[in-house]
Amino acid sequence: MLLKLEGVTKRFGGLVAVNSVDLEVEEGEKLGVVGPNGSGKTTLYNLISGVYMPDEGRIFFEGKEITNLPPYDRTKLGIARTFQIPRPFGSATVRENVAIGAMFGMANAGVDEALEMADDMLKLVGIYDLKDKEAKLLTPLEKKLMELARALAMKPKLLLLDELLAGMNPANINEILELLDRVKKEENIAVIAMVEHLMHAITKFAERVVVMHQGMKLIEGPTMEVLNDPKVIEVYLGEKLNVG
Ligand SMILES: Nc1ncnc2c1ncn2[C@@H]1O[C@H](COP(=O)(O)OP(=O)(O)O)[C@@H](O)[C@H]1O
Ligand SMILES: [Mg+2]
Repeated sequence: MLLKLEGVTKRFGGLVAVNSVDLEVEEGEKLGVVGPNGSGKTTLYNLISGVYMPDEGRIFFEGKEITNLPPYDRTKLGIARTFQIPRPFGSATVRENVAIGAMFGMANAGVDEALEMADDMLKLVGIYDLKDKEAKLLTPLEKKLMELARALAMKPKLLLLDELLAGMNPANINEILELLDRVKKEENIAVIAMVEHLMHAITKFAERVVVMHQGMKLIEGPTMEVLNDPKVIEVYLGEKLNVG
């Protein structure tokens, strides 16, 4: 078991953003986490990556308790994430932004090595030609690819992708899904988990899906089974899901 959450709860004032969630993630698993806006997906990620400490419950990574470990230490253990809204170091170059990942992640690289790793990751995600550009000049899509390269440069065991695909067109989405497959093979990253509303992408990407609803885990199981479950269709406001 790579990651384990036991009864994890996070409150913001009176609001229970994540409500007693149990979750287990195996090494190498491709897990999809879906749910309507406000259902607690990003908060769940923040709890796993250490941005927030839970009010209740415990979190384990490779059997070691990390419930109250700061984000920096979790990064060192191999937990990397992308942000729903990327916040790059704007005046640094793309290459420098990605190298920072290599220096602070599991890779723990020195500067020269980190810059080399940055180049490799930029090639992998397909934006190597932008390496000397200031990060703030990138398009939103390019920023997301840079975020992905930065997270990969950390050499994570668990990669948390928060709405990486949101706002992308179908061609870009397919490209990224193929890229993630390639990354999983080439970089031997144990786990890629992912938060998306995009059902098409989820069916392509995930072997297993967890559906969040009002901070709770509504249902989990094999992707197609879960997405065709009447409870899940109801949560998405009766919307008929096109999962074909
Ligand atoms: N820092 C915060 N302070 C107060 N409320 C928050 C904070 N972060 C999230 N929330 C609330 O927690 C709930 C879950 O939010 P979030 O985890 O962002 O959901 P999702 O990512 O599924 O859209 C929402 O009601 C949101 O308004
Ligand atoms: Mg979110």
